[in-house]
Amino acid sequence: MKPAAPRCDRTLAWRALQGHFEAHGRELDLREAFARDAGRFDAFSCQAPEVFADLSKNLWDLATHKLLIELADECDLAGRRDAMLAGEPVNRTEGRAVLHTALRAPAGSAPHATQVHAVLDAMLAYAEGVRDTARSGIRAIVNIGIGGSDLGPQMAVPALESFTHPDIECHFVSNVDGHDITPVLKRLRPESTLFIIASKTFTTQETMANAAVARQWFLDQGGRDIARHFVGTTTNLPAAAQFGITTTFGFWDWVGGRFSMWSAIGLPIAIAIGATNFRALLAGAHAMDRHFATEPFERNLPVRLGLLDVWYRNFHRFTSRSVAPYHQGLKRLPAYLQQLEMESNGKRVDWQGDTVPFGTSPVVWGEPGTNGQHAYFQMLHQGTDVVPVEFIAVRVPSHPHLDLHHKALANCLAQSQALMVGKTAAQARAERVPTASATFDADQLARHRTFPGNRPSTTLVLDALTPRSLGALLAMYEHRVFTSGALWGINSFDQWGVELGKALCNELLPRMSSGDVAGLDASTAGLLGRLRS
Ligand code: F6P
Repeated sequence: MKPAAPRCDRTLAWRALQGHFEAHGRELDLREAFARDAGRFDAFSCQAPEVFADLSKNLWDLATHKLLIELADECDLAGRRDAMLAGEPVNRTEGRAVLHTALRAPAGSAPHATQVHAVLDAMLAYAEGVRDTARSGIRAIVNIGIGGSDLGPQMAVPALESFTHPDIECHFVSNVDGHDITPVLKRLRPESTLFIIASKTFTTQETMANAAVARQWFLDQGGRDIARHFVGTTTNLPAAAQFGITTTFGFWDWVGGRFSMWSAIGLPIAIAIGATNFRALLAGAHAMDRHFATEPFERNLPVRLGLLDVWYRNFHRFTSRSVAPYHQGLKRLPAYLQQLEMESNGKRVDWQGDTVPFGTSPVVWGEPGTNGQHAYFQMLHQGTDVVPVEFIAVRVPSHPHLDLHHKALANCLAQSQALMVGKTAAQARAERVPTASATFDADQLARHRTFPGNRPSTTLVLDALTPRSLGALLAMYEHRVFTSGALWGINSFDQWGVELGKALCNELLPRMSSGDVAGLDASTAGLLGRLRS
């Protein structure tokens, strides 16, 4: 490996960005920027495979953009990217390569191609067998997994609802809380159900506990042939075999959990949408991989988004980003992105283990539009914190109700417009407001009804939500997270922060039945006493 490039805050570009932020960045007014520059939309829009992005309603100008690209160059973003794509052990704390891109590369074009394509072909053949319901008898699949072994399939299956098999129901069980699996089991018959036990490690407490409950339920209901009704997707084939599973589809330690839906973990997706569509999902992701790998940074969408994230987090100091997909199929996308971004970049030390003196992962959150508009958009428009919003719009719907679709899209456009243009007190004062109190002071009322505006947003546009476009969109998010993580000099591919809670849970578990509170802090002891039954 090449000598490490400097962390972002030790570069010349960082200092230049600090100066630029003080001089022009902090006070940039979007309304003036658009008035000044008729070419702003073109300069700040970007076409990547399957995804068009309007970045023009963001608080940056061409000088910011140029300095951010200089920052990427000084931090050797290209070198870091190429090292990841070549299979170097860039996940240094675990000594692993990071090669989810190899899972969607055409045969022969990336590391590990032979094993990747052998598993892919076998998994897709199996999926097609299940989809042949007359022969398989399967009418319901239940994916039991958590985190990266759940969130991708749970997000992608509803997103691609119009491509799914009409006679196979897909269920997802993740939570160790029995209120998750219990209502699912009530709807199933053992002879027509396939359980997919999805776990990279095949040791995760939640998944193993739910798998045991499912197996017991299957036997109690007179189910026969566990080997036919349980399948495993895992890197730990011996543990799956020990559970009694004979059909397994493997993957490898160079596939991180949150990057694993392209591997055997995608089996529920493949059963739902079929082999051809699953290959289209991979092809869309691969097209975005090529874009990320080859396009100059000035036109490279994931890079531009990652740089914008650094600009917002470290200079404007925004602490969160809201995702608003105006497509109900993408209702689980915010949850998927939470793991992708916050588990990857929620780190406080750099590669050397030194505490970083700047913010890393923002909080990522959201709901599909227009639901969010009737909940928290009030805060986005008039609250005291600025939260950049990411709108996702899909031009062609997968339903026939064009009137509804136009309303959804008009709402999407209106929200980004309202965030930017705002409303002055004078404009508010001039309006007749039938719902306002007739006795309330008019000037005070106008202040309540003022919108500051100048609130930033990005709008991503897909032509249609298809396996290919979904693949491209998700790969774009992966590379964007890589970009900001690389500049911050952190390891985006480990997740040590989940360990402590797991260890303490194992210590507390026997106390739930014994009631022993010795050595516990007073709060934990008090709560344990209240919760024990
Ligand atoms: O939450 C920690 C984590 O390790 C995630 O990174 C992973 O996606 C999830 O647990 C599930 O792990 P496994 O697939 O090994 O069951």
